[in-house]
Amino acid sequence: MSALLEVRGLTVCHGQLEAVKGVSLSVSPGEVLGIIGANGAGKSTLLRTIAGLHKPSSGAVLLDGVAITRLAPEKRVAAGIVLVPEGRRLFGSLNVEENLLAGCYRARPGPWTMARVLAMFPWMATRRRQPASQLSGGEQQAVAIARALLANPRLLMLDEPSLGLAPVPLQRIYAVLPELVEAGLGVLLVEQDVRQALKVSARVQCLLEGRQTLAGVPAELDFEQIEAAYFGMTRKKGA
Ligand SMILES: Nc1ncnc2c1ncn2[C@@H]1O[C@H](COP(=O)(O)OP(=O)(O)OP(=O)(O)O)[C@@H](O)[C@H]1O
Ligand SMILES: [Mg+2]
Repeated sequence: MSALLEVRGLTVCHGQLEAVKGVSLSVSPGEVLGIIGANGAGKSTLLRTIAGLHKPSSGAVLLDGVAITRLAPEKRVAAGIVLVPEGRRLFGSLNVEENLLAGCYRARPGPWTMARVLAMFPWMATRRRQPASQLSGGEQQAVAIARALLANPRLLMLDEPSLGLAPVPLQRIYAVLPELVEAGLGVLLVEQDVRQALKVSARVQCLLEGRQTLAGVPAELDFEQIEAAYFGMTRKKGA
């Protein structure tokens, strides 16, 4: 059986810099794969390449076993690959509802209707006329996720949803993940908060300077292994 998403030996360059070096992964329906790694490890580059926003110099991206490596970004959205980018990227001058409607533009048919999304985040209905720029970080992240769901993705990619959030809003965001998994979405989650990634992912992979340094099931990984994979073996005690 083919995975929903498969990435084979992906290498991505920004000019002279190899930001992603031969990374492979797969995500099945209803599975969360966590990608961890320090600043600059290549996590966003990896997600953006899967979304079609960067061209890889080698390797392949497959959806349902079919290569989509050269498909345009909007066609990937139409095929069900949707990215919630780092930093949320809402239209700040538009209100909540207008931001959500942007997700409906050329949406695939599917179960994620406006009613279902508003049932998931009830506060959005009452604040639909509020400009997105007036929302808190956690609320903006929720709108960004809701907007992505309205496109009816099969694979949802979340790039650091916890960035800049305090513990309570962070938990509110992560509280929606089980419903997404239950609905059969494959989730590719980039998270710098390793503890959070381990808590919610079926499997995790770690990147260090673009290279995959670790892959495994959270329960089978110990702290030292993860630390070495995350920072590299050369990190000195106390550094
Ligand atoms: N558009 C770009 N042009 C040039 N270099 C880039 C570009 N985007 C990223 N890079 C570089 O590629 C490397 C990987 O960056 P990337 O943003 O993928 O890392 P990241 O793991 O997402 O980091 P962070 O945790 O800080 O978001 C970094 O050295 C970065 O400076
Ligand atoms: Mg990033």
